Parts: sequence; structure tokens; C-alpha cells
Amino acid sequence: MDLNVLILPGDGIGVEVTREAVKVLRSVASAGNHRLRLSEGLLGGAAIHQTGTPFPDETREKALQADATLLGAVGLPEFDDAPPEKRPERGLLGIRKALEVYANLRPVRSYKALVDSSPLKNELVDGTDMIIVRELTGGLYYGTPRGISGTGPEERAVNTMVYTRPEIERVARMAFELARKRRKKVTSVDKSNVLENSQLWRRVVTEMAANYPDVTLNHILVDNCAMQLVLNPKRFDVVLTENLFGDILSDEGAVLAGSIGMLPSASIGSRRPSGAWTGLYEPVHGSAPDIAGQNKANPLGAIGSVAAMLEYSFGLTQEAQTVYGAIEAVLNSGRVTGDLKPFGPPATTSEVGDAVAAAFSAHTATA
Ligand code: IPM
Ligand code: MN
Repeated sequence: MDLNVLILPGDGIGVEVTREAVKVLRSVASAGNHRLRLSEGLLGGAAIHQTGTPFPDETREKALQADATLLGAVGLPEFDDAPPEKRPERGLLGIRKALEVYANLRPVRSYKALVDSSPLKNELVDGTDMIIVRELTGGLYYGTPRGISGTGPEERAVNTMVYTRPEIERVARMAFELARKRRKKVTSVDKSNVLENSQLWRRVVTEMAANYPDVTLNHILVDNCAMQLVLNPKRFDVVLTENLFGDILSDEGAVLAGSIGMLPSASIGSRRPSGAWTGLYEPVHGSAPDIAGQNKANPLGAIGSVAAMLEYSFGLTQEAQTVYGAIEAVLNSGRVTGDLKPFGPPATTSEVGDAVAAAFSAHTATA
């Protein structure tokens, strides 16, 4: 089949982890005789440097035309004091909105080879397998009014947390559908003891549950959820939550997986006529400027994002499973980057990418 993919390396370690993810994508394409058409574009700080804006029109056009987009990371310290519209992060928010990818799927699982990489007790993390479904195109990230006004003691800042019923319904539907293919449990996270916004969220999610009698729905307050994630992570299957809560909780999930470098994500929304999801795929980690360009970042979150792309945007479930298997084989080999605290000297970013590509090809050759 035709795999028409836009690559947006972005900033910092985004560039090097994306290179490895593309390596794996090429192996998948050549093994399955798929025609891979890659284009490349600018997003974030790299785009500001070259065009003055974090989300150039050209990138928008390319993204709308591609079947799927693979993104590295955005963000550079030199923009820390820039106004929001001139920050790299605004490019990311722009592309999420342009593609209307309202559901961000962040799987969090423990790998046998990595239980010692987590600072938490082994018996606590071992067996963790959840997926955080984070609403991605609404809430505080996009609500208006927003801004800073006034001066001196009158200076004030406003952000607005807003959700409409349809926005809650569509992401809840996604969570319930996913749960059906898993352990059939949805935990919806909110702050309904304080926020009206969360009261609507809880009410709409509860209504939706009536359409999924085979799925068990629980509600949990976000503060308690933050605690339960490290006390009893195995209780979670599908965790459904709004944009900012999901952002925060998914970083906490990284502690369970052993390193934030491990976490992939898939942002999906509208479907193509073929039934495939249009998607944006990116590792959960940021641009980590402190280690950028040193060939030591963990590329497995980016490579896992390629697996997610194969699964959701191209329906290549078998290939996706083989990529996940190749990741696991490399973890078991112990040749991993420094964040995973290997016994021996750490492997480089490109060595890990080569190893996953080789493990993928080896598996396909013997299959
Ligand atoms: C993430 C990131 C982004 C977010 C930033 C870079 C805008 O933290 O994808 O989790 O907050 O969504
Ligand atoms: Mn985040």
C-alpha cells in the first residue's frame, strides 16, 4: 500500500529520535513492499528560525495532504520568554487543531526488562498496562478569553476551561471503544467537586456509558488519580481525561514505564473515507535541549509512535505488533540508552534504532 507520511523532526532531540523512527518505518515498508512517500516539514523553534512562525502554512498544507504525520518534539529554551504566539509549543497546538486530532492515546505499560528502571517497587509496577486517552483539542489549552492584561497591581491573567457536550462525547466514545478491545474498564478523571466543567464532563461520560453496557465505568478525582497511579497502577485500564489533566498524568505514567523516553503517543480524530484515522504520532517526551545532538536520547518512544501509526492510520496491525516485539527484543538485549540505566555502557540513539530495525527485519525474514 501507499504510505504517505509527513515527517516533522522539530527541535532538540526530536531530530535524532525521528531519524531512528524513520529508519524503522523504512524497514517496515521494504519488508511489506509498501510504497513509502516521505515529505519533510518545519514545526516549532526550527520553523520560527526559518520562517518566523512556529506553524507555517506550508506545514499545514503538507499535514492535511499526508495520510499520517510523525513528529519529534518542539521547544527551545531561547523562546522561554517569548509571547505565546511566538513560542514553538504554539506550533504543536496549531497542528493538533488543524488536523482536529481530538483524542491523544498514550499507552503506559511496564516491560519486564525495565522494572528495575522505575524508581517504584517492582511488584507495584510489574504488569501495569493502561492507556491514557487525553482530550487534545479543547479545555484550557484553547479556551477563550485568554491573555494577560493591565499593569502593576491591576495586572491579571486569564485562561478559560471550556468543553461542549459534543467534544466530551466524541472523546468518551473513543475511550469506550478502546476499552471494548481491552479489559473493558474506563476510569474517567475530573475535578467535579470544584469545577462546573468537570460536572458536565462526568454527566456526559456517564450518559455515554449506557451505550456500552459491557464496559465498567468509574469516576475518580484528578488529585486522587495522581496518587492511585503510583499506589496501584494495575487498577487502571483506559483512563479518560481532559487536556491539561491528561498532560500532567501522562508524565506521571512515565515513572511506571521506566523512562519518559519509552512513551509513544497517537493523536487521532477524523476518519478518512477508507476508515483509517488521520493521525499525528509523537513521543510523549519533549525536546530535551540539554542532551540534544549528543546521540544519547532514547528513540523508543518515537519508534513506538511509528508502530501506533501503522496500527491506527494504516491498519497494519501485524506490522505494528512486530515493531512492538522488536522494541521488546532490544530491551531484553540490554543495549539501551542511559535513561534506562543499563548495566554496561549505554547504547547510542542510532545504535538502538539500528537494533530495532534489525530485530524487525530478522523477525519478518523468519516469519
Ligand atoms: C505534551 C507536551 C505538550 C503539551 C507541550 C510541548 C505543548 O507537554 O505533548 O505532553 O502540553 O501538550
Ligand atoms: Mn506533556
